[in-house]
Amino acid sequence: MERQVKRENLWVNERGHLCIRGHDLVELAERFGTPLYVIDAQRIRENYRRFRDAFNSYPRVLIAYAYKANPNLAVCSILKEEGAGAEVVSGGELYIALKVGVNPEKIVFDGVSKGEDELKMAIEGEIGAINVESLEELRKIERIASKLGKKARIGVRLNPDVPVRTHPHDVTGAKYSKFGLDFESALKAYEMAMKMEHIEVKGIHIHIGSQITQVDSFRSAALRLFDLVSKLKEMGVMLEYLDFGGGLGITYGGRKDYLKEYARTLLELTRTKIGELDLGEPKLIFEPGRYIVADSSVLLTRVNYVKEIFGRKWVLVDAGMNDFMRPAMYGAAHQIVPVNKPEGEERYNVGGPICESSDVFGRDVRLPEMEAGDLLAIFDVGAYGICMSSQYNSRPRPAMILIDEAKVSVVRERETYEDLISKDRIPND
Ligand code: LLP
Repeated sequence: MERQVKRENLWVNERGHLCIRGHDLVELAERFGTPLYVIDAQRIRENYRRFRDAFNSYPRVLIAYAYKANPNLAVCSILKEEGAGAEVVSGGELYIALKVGVNPEKIVFDGVSKGEDELKMAIEGEIGAINVESLEELRKIERIASKLGKKARIGVRLNPDVPVRTHPHDVTGAKYSKFGLDFESALKAYEMAMKMEHIEVKGIHIHIGSQITQVDSFRSAALRLFDLVSKLKEMGVMLEYLDFGGGLGITYGGRKDYLKEYARTLLELTRTKIGELDLGEPKLIFEPGRYIVADSSVLLTRVNYVKEIFGRKWVLVDAGMNDFMRPAMYGAAHQIVPVNKPEGEERYNVGGPICESSDVFGRDVRLPEMEAGDLLAIFDVGAYGICMSSQYNSRPRPAMILIDEAKVSVVRERETYEDLISKDRIPND
């Protein structure tokens, strides 16, 4: 069967092997072992630039890459070089953003339950924005800032309570979610904040969830945001930034891109509202994670066994749910593609080595006749992949390599058995 070209950056070379920008994935698997995350640096740059350009008709935009999607130092450095800011949700992510040299003014700190030490780090570091999610957090920030003799720049996260169609785990802007403040509580937060000596009220924040491709949901949420902005204007509060959060979905399988529709919708609405409410020229913040990195990476995994039970064929591979959680956790269907041989018409379930029935990457996957030693690539694993991995079943986490034109670099070493126990202690030993 004729091999098809998969993606712009993934094609089949003259040996019939799948490659990323000409780098043979069979060779990479032999050289670096499996399971192996392979990232395409150029794809990250392309995605970032596409996102940035979609908003370039508005003069003041900050794209704060959501570090949680992939906080690898090399990945974050590429985005910092491109000019991205950072959306962080923990002291760890803040540490990484500062480590790669992101200008603190371009750092936004979100999170529903930020710790005292984390807030202290953010205030001391004089970052651009802390988005507050409770009245108690606001009081805590005032207290810490006062102790440090600093001023903290804050926004309030509104929970807009709009319907969103995505996996329930990925919904954050509904009544039942823990995130943000409802309209009335958010107003109260602004009233309180305006009176606080060590707080500078700078903005407003929404984030309704992740892997959302219905642009209408973003529009409804933004309308709620502007309702609050309008109320604040009446109270004499002028905001310097409007933070629309992240959440733009991709089509796993690479068929459709919703970015243009997303950008057009939000920009049109924003322009109209800015005019109506006479808001000046606030900075617009976006916090994309998945859109920027998801399709930059594949996970290479080798077939250990093939078997047939109860009339079903199973391919058992060396990557598990500990290495890549999304299928087990969200039932996510990631494309699985043969690397060393052409496509075929057999149907297989693809399972990992973990002792859990959820450790299945796909069912009824169309593959060629498989045998031990074959290689498979799981697509679109660049977001929420390695960062959600664990050592479950005492499995060292996989290595990550970065392809950047001709250069291949290890950007995360494979963990070892010693790593598994390096933090464990036996009492009195
Ligand atoms: N901003 C905030 C406040 C967030 O909570 C998130 C993601 C983002 C931005 C970035 O969202 P993105 O553009 O990547 O959709 N592990 C899940 C996704 C969890 C997303 C959590 N928050 C998954 O693999 O589907």
